[in-house]
Amino acid sequence: MTITRRSLLFTSAVGLAAIMAAGSALADAPPLKKKDTYKVGFAQTESNNPWRLAQTASMQEEAKKRGWQLVYTDAASSAAKQVADVNSMIAQGVDLIFLAPREEKPLIPAIKAAKNAGIPVILLDRNVDASLAKAGEDYVTFIGSNFIEEGQRVADWLVKNANGKTTIIELEGTTGSSPANDRKKGFDEVIAKNPGFKVVASQTGDFARDKGRQVAETLLQAHPDANVIYAHNDEMAIGAISAIEAAGKVPGKDILVLSIDGGKEAVQAVVDGKIAAVVECNPRFGPKAFDTAVAYANGEKIPDKLINPDQFYDASNAKELLSTAY
Ligand code: AHR
Repeated sequence: MTITRRSLLFTSAVGLAAIMAAGSALADAPPLKKKDTYKVGFAQTESNNPWRLAQTASMQEEAKKRGWQLVYTDAASSAAKQVADVNSMIAQGVDLIFLAPREEKPLIPAIKAAKNAGIPVILLDRNVDASLAKAGEDYVTFIGSNFIEEGQRVADWLVKNANGKTTIIELEGTTGSSPANDRKKGFDEVIAKNPGFKVVASQTGDFARDKGRQVAETLLQAHPDANVIYAHNDEMAIGAISAIEAAGKVPGKDILVLSIDGGKEAVQAVVDGKIAAVVECNPRFGPKAFDTAVAYANGEKIPDKLINPDQFYDASNAKELLSTAY
């Protein structure tokens, strides 16, 4: 008879002690049994922007298509709520958890709790601190974009197309999140290698439109010579456009706006000349996430990272590709 850690969980206090011992000793991520259908969790981080809504819709559509039950939670921008959401999924006995961890560190105990309960976790779009949790051991894999490369691609475009615009304000994403850390790293490293370019201010706008607008307004007042705004996502870029216009300047002419995400509104802004360039961050995770779960159940070796390919939009292709943006 095979005794799983999860079946032990509900047996007795003695069983519980056994689980804790087994969980901490277990080297690999828990297996997923082969079944015709699954009950899986999707712990979303927030739903306050089109990117998150597109990601959630993609996950829900895929679950429906396959006839899997999806337990969906929205952490409403709170890492503490997301930890509670994962714990609730564990208590509900889901077969697997898809998790979009809001920040790199606070979700680690929840990932370990899922492991100890015998429930595999697949990270979607945001990663966790690699020194605290490992792919293949604590969770199965990370599926998402290469955020460092996204930042580098924006910076490379700027270096080639700056036309004298070299004084940069950076609007960072949510503090402690992997896209904010990595988009900053990728961009700042390229800029540091190019004399003449300078990031004069860098502050978080929490990936949110109005926060981005407010921070851009303050930073434009403090740095009236700034002529580039690099926003870590579309929402903050669109907020920055309002701030630029409120300051009596013209986005695309006086100040170049650069962004990441590639939603329809931002790609339209590229067509309109208000955003100079956008690197896409593809939110359509459903098919790949569910295929990966099936492959894992089939015993296939899953790589530590599955990287999504991302589009790039600027004046040369935005009109043509607008209909394909999410
Ligand atoms: O993790 C991906 C980022 O999170 C997207 O760029 C952003 O819009 C979202 O909230």
